[in-house]
Amino acid sequence: MFDVLRVARQLERAVSEEPARFHAMEADAWVTGLPGPGDVQVGTGREPLWRNLGYWRDVERVDESNCERVGALFGAAQARLAHLLATTAGLTRTDHVLDCGFRYGDQDILWAEAYGCERIVGLEVTPHHVRVGRERMRMLGLDGRVRLELGSATRMPLGTGAFDVVFALESAIHFDTREDFLREAFRVLRPGGRLVAADLCQTRDRETGLGLRRRLRHRYWRGRYAFPEANVWTTERYRSELRRVGFEQARLTSIASDVFPAVNTALAALQGLRAAAHPLEPRALDRVRAEVQRARRMEFEQLQWLTRFNCDEYLVVSALRP
Ligand SMILES: C[S@@+](CC[C@H](N)C(=O)[O-])C[C@H]1O[C@@H](n2cnc3c(N)ncnc32)[C@H](O)[C@@H]1O
Repeated sequence: MFDVLRVARQLERAVSEEPARFHAMEADAWVTGLPGPGDVQVGTGREPLWRNLGYWRDVERVDESNCERVGALFGAAQARLAHLLATTAGLTRTDHVLDCGFRYGDQDILWAEAYGCERIVGLEVTPHHVRVGRERMRMLGLDGRVRLELGSATRMPLGTGAFDVVFALESAIHFDTREDFLREAFRVLRPGGRLVAADLCQTRDRETGLGLRRRLRHRYWRGRYAFPEANVWTTERYRSELRRVGFEQARLTSIASDVFPAVNTALAALQGLRAAAHPLEPRALDRVRAEVQRARRMEFEQLQWLTRFNCDEYLVVSALRP
């Protein structure tokens, strides 16, 4: 028994201690039709390369009638999540923005173009993301306003009090650790600056009393997805960590019901289309539709964020540096 646990811990360490390696090696395309991250081709610079679960309120949800359009629908929900963070922060064109875990910079393009932000700095731990992100900014003429840097959100190579807004769009869960990130975010914010994040956690303590099988399962999946055990927090823990670091006016708003069920169905459609040799051939599409129908009928407790990671909450977090 002890050995099994030790192997699980080693496995977890192998990936979660090197998030850059994990994120660079992810092989799956997130949006139908896109190549995997290892061979991302930048054409116009506007190809959607998001990697978040999306905010599906007022976005057409994927079902049996539209599943072949899942790529566009998913992209719309992912952009909507970036808009939600921007409006939560009350983003203005003069704000100096830091974006932690930008991946290929989709949200930075959106914030620069839709909100007119004149200065965005991005921090990313995966070199490939930084290279592609910079190339996109150059192609779109945004490189003067969006500066993308290689570095960790847990040890920011940035001066104190330099930013009005720090964003972490579904990335803080991967930072080793989230607590270090909060401390750094507080340091680089000016007094009156805002931290805004989209993040996963637990509505209540779901860890205590778990059996060995479930503990091993969660450890395995968290390890595979570069989700350090230290970041398994409840909403209350999140609030108290923000307070401990010095943040005030913390608001933690649940959007779980507009995230998990809809993205579960979208993922079923994506996986089905990817697995089909000829996705638009009627029989292949029927199989995808059956998968989508099955996914739509799933209970909340069956969704993968609970079964794999034991996370039942998706929050928009905002807090102020006094
Ligand atoms: C789930 S992706 C989110 C990407 C993007 N915000 C989006 O919504 O499409 C998480 C990103 O965080 C990055 N990351 C992980 N650990 C990091 C760290 N310590 N510092 C900065 N970025 C990190 C990963 O490389 C990955 O690109």
